[in-house]
Amino acid sequence: MKIRVIDQLELSGKRVMIRVDFNVPMDKAGNVTDDTRLQAALPTIRHAVKSGGKAILLSHLGRPKGKRVPEMSLAPVVKRLSAILGKEVPFVPECVGEEVEKAIAAMRPGDVILLENVRFNPGEEKNDEAFGEKLAALCDVYVNDAFATAHRGHSSNVAITRFVKEKAAGFLMKNEIAYFEKALVDPARPLVAVFGGAKISGKIEAINNVLDKVDKILIGGAMANTFFAAQGHEVGKSLCEVEMLDTARQVLSNAARRKVKLYLPVDVVVADRLETYASVKIVPVPEIPPGWMAADVGPATSLLFKEALQGAKTIVWNGPLGAFETAPFAGGTFAFMRALAESDAITIVGGGDTDTALHKAGLFSRMSYVSTGGGAFLELLEGKRLPGIVALEE
Ligand code: 3PG
Repeated sequence: MKIRVIDQLELSGKRVMIRVDFNVPMDKAGNVTDDTRLQAALPTIRHAVKSGGKAILLSHLGRPKGKRVPEMSLAPVVKRLSAILGKEVPFVPECVGEEVEKAIAAMRPGDVILLENVRFNPGEEKNDEAFGEKLAALCDVYVNDAFATAHRGHSSNVAITRFVKEKAAGFLMKNEIAYFEKALVDPARPLVAVFGGAKISGKIEAINNVLDKVDKILIGGAMANTFFAAQGHEVGKSLCEVEMLDTARQVLSNAARRKVKLYLPVDVVVADRLETYASVKIVPVPEIPPGWMAADVGPATSLLFKEALQGAKTIVWNGPLGAFETAPFAGGTFAFMRALAESDAITIVGGGDTDTALHKAGLFSRMSYVSTGGGAFLELLEGKRLPGIVALEE
């Protein structure tokens, strides 16, 4: 299926609505604390400006559930956006209606405005056709650059596409799709997938889907505890999903049947509690003491995982290998990120916490690609077609 990209459209003098994902973290004073998603949208916005389009930015923030929730207003975002874009971006406190129409009518080619949180409208999350039509009426051209929202089927990324004259992907959306294809559709091999994070239940569909495609799979994070328990090891008071033990066993046997090499941690950092000043020690996996919890992979595992990455041509990583937010349990994730940074493979990383960890370690720019999508990236790994992408297909 063909998806057009913004640079294939004539934008001069046109009203260009760009669906962005500005669902960014902010502190209580309204300062954006991580502007990755704003930065990621800049190439598309700049292209619209340079081409003489009138860029109307539309986004959601948080989950206000169809109501106006002042703390979820996008108003504070314009400060940072204007600073990084190098251009004043006026804010319109509505996303449809007279005030918006007036603001758009007053725009000149090259202007940029940001509309209010599209989820304040009850129609948005219902993928309401009438609301999509109202949004479509505000523009001549519709561009979707909100990859991180592509797994949602909402009016601003699905219904709207039925009413617009022209539609296209932005550069971010284009890159996300292209890198995903490099990761799982047509990867350079050997292909290694690495999963971390708390729960196997949240990742099982993705693990099962990639088992058909990868040469190796590495599993860390609290999720590994469920595998340890499935192998009959004591896991103390570690986070463990007892109801998923059979599922974990199935993963192990499926991997063996498909001749996919599956690596689990061989040692772990255990603690009496998940706090900065907890008592900690490193033990081999079969020696997790009762009453202690595994909170990170140990140094032997870091070496093993680094070794397992040797020769890889593509590495896809989702989810931290330990509770990296708390100092004593960050070592495993940080060592792994350094191994990724040193690897010659194409490294494709996605999942909310993984980019936070990369920023913390100063290694963000050392990855080949870091997806802006959490849920959206995971759903791609699960083999799903995302409604926001499907809606862009001609
Ligand atoms: C995200 O942060 O993953 C996206 O902005 C989607 O947000 P949502 O999970 O509230 O739909």
